[in-house]
Amino acid sequence: MNQEIRIKTKHFYAVLVILGFLLIYSLSSNNGCDSDGQSSPNSEFAAAGGREAFLLNQKGPTIYAITPTYARPVQKAELTRLSQVIRLSPNVFWVLVEDADHGSELVANLLRRSGLEERSVQLFAKTPTNFKLQGKDPNWLKPRGVEQRNKALDWVRRELAANGGRERHSVVYFMDDDNTYSSELFGEMSKIERNKVGVWPVGLVGGLMVEKPVLNRDGIVLGFNSAWRPERPFPLDMAGFAISSDLLLDNPQAQFSYEVERGYQESEILRHLTIVHEMQPLANKCTDVLVWHTRTENPKLDAEKPLVKAGKRSDAGLEV
Ligand code: UGA
Ligand code: MN
Repeated sequence: MNQEIRIKTKHFYAVLVILGFLLIYSLSSNNGCDSDGQSSPNSEFAAAGGREAFLLNQKGPTIYAITPTYARPVQKAELTRLSQVIRLSPNVFWVLVEDADHGSELVANLLRRSGLEERSVQLFAKTPTNFKLQGKDPNWLKPRGVEQRNKALDWVRRELAANGGRERHSVVYFMDDDNTYSSELFGEMSKIERNKVGVWPVGLVGGLMVEKPVLNRDGIVLGFNSAWRPERPFPLDMAGFAISSDLLLDNPQAQFSYEVERGYQESEILRHLTIVHEMQPLANKCTDVLVWHTRTENPKLDAEKPLVKAGKRSDAGLEV
């Protein structure tokens, strides 16, 4: 009899322990549900395109990505590609500057449909006719993007001054509309320190597979491996550096110019801001290539020309 009671008591305690475990388990999995519901900004949900992906993330420095752009058949395709990498990079604020005398419907539509309206601005600045490439001019004849980038720099400097000035650390990057950018690059740019210009390799540029900073053993930038005009003070591509915003506020004269020789736009702005040895190497000590200077072929539209003449264009009523 006594033994029977002891066994029953044992069973009772065993059931109690199991119930206790079940209770703890159900409480902890409920918590999981709640936190999923709130979705932290860094969750996979955001990366997959939740609401947070469209809004500026105030945690790291804001990266002002300045993109000159101009109307041509491939414009929407190029900007679609860019808008999608920017969506994946919540610290980026996109400063689009059209080479035109007013903002276009195409760009406004693109910003709206990509969901980036709240972290972008649509500006315009037309390149003066004497500096604009004409018909069959080779693309290197005149500098591109000067007017637009200077307009954007004005806008960014004013924006910075109105929003905390030197107190707030931001980064400025010049992003062509036709290059190819990995979203990882923006993570690297977030590491740029105050008063620094960050540098990294750029693929497929200057006649090389990769143009890159050359570092010494201590990770100091000694120079660049450039083959094209290596005598330039900063022989690197526009896509290969980004600037801490305080340098731009402290040096209001730093901008682009029509007065300089071909290939000297990068040196023109950087000469006011830094020296080669003080640049901050990023992208895994400059061994990762996270941006490529791709150029898009001009599409052949031979069959479109007679249609346009006959008033029957294939894109009537469509935005391509
Ligand atoms: C290279 C560099 O990557 C550019 O950053 C630099 O401005 C250019 O050389 C230069 O030295 O001027 P590249 O591919 O040859 O670039 O130039 P594009 O991509 O044709 O133009 C650079 C930017 O200017 C693009 O964002 C493009 O949309 C814009 N652009 C070009 C205009 O706004 N208007 C134009 O008439 C032509
Ligand atoms: Mn280009």
